[in-house]
Amino acid sequence: MNHAKTDSIAECIASSGYEKSPKSVIPLLQHVQESFSYIPEKAIEEISEWTRVSRSHIYGVITFYSQFRLIPLGKNVIRVCDGTACHINSSEQIYEELSGLLKAKDGETTQDGMFTLLTVACLGCCSLAPVIMINDRTYGRLTPKQLKKIIDSYYEDKERSGDRNAS
Ligand code: FES
Repeated sequence: MNHAKTDSIAECIASSGYEKSPKSVIPLLQHVQESFSYIPEKAIEEISEWTRVSRSHIYGVITFYSQFRLIPLGKNVIRVCDGTACHINSSEQIYEELSGLLKAKDGETTQDGMFTLLTVACLGCCSLAPVIMINDRTYGRLTPKQLKKIIDSYYEDKERSGDRNAS
């Protein structure tokens, strides 16, 4: 981790306004994750010093709550709806197909950093079930067969934009 990032983590915590107390652990973790999209290891050290809660306890909190991530989000975030309407329209098959294509499970990021796969509750467009969103774009009435083409299109866009080295 470079110094700029290390400094910005310390600054992020110091400027958060949360008091130096164990009860600030969860709000600080949320604050850091909002700023960095995940909880960097250095942030655990800083939060531990700030709140006087041991690192192992903070790790315990992070692993207990599924909202926290220890790795950064991918360049593209795929949200697979598993709300009622999508569930009865085979959202599980959509998830399984995506998971297989990306070699990532719920909450994980692909090795190349291109995609993070998340299962979520209703995305608010049930008439299109089953639905996924990739970033802010909605794909509805999906079948598992359509997914490879959709995923490939993101890799093609990346190549077109000459963004081969993006993380
Ligand atoms: S249940 Fe999937 S969009 Fe509402």
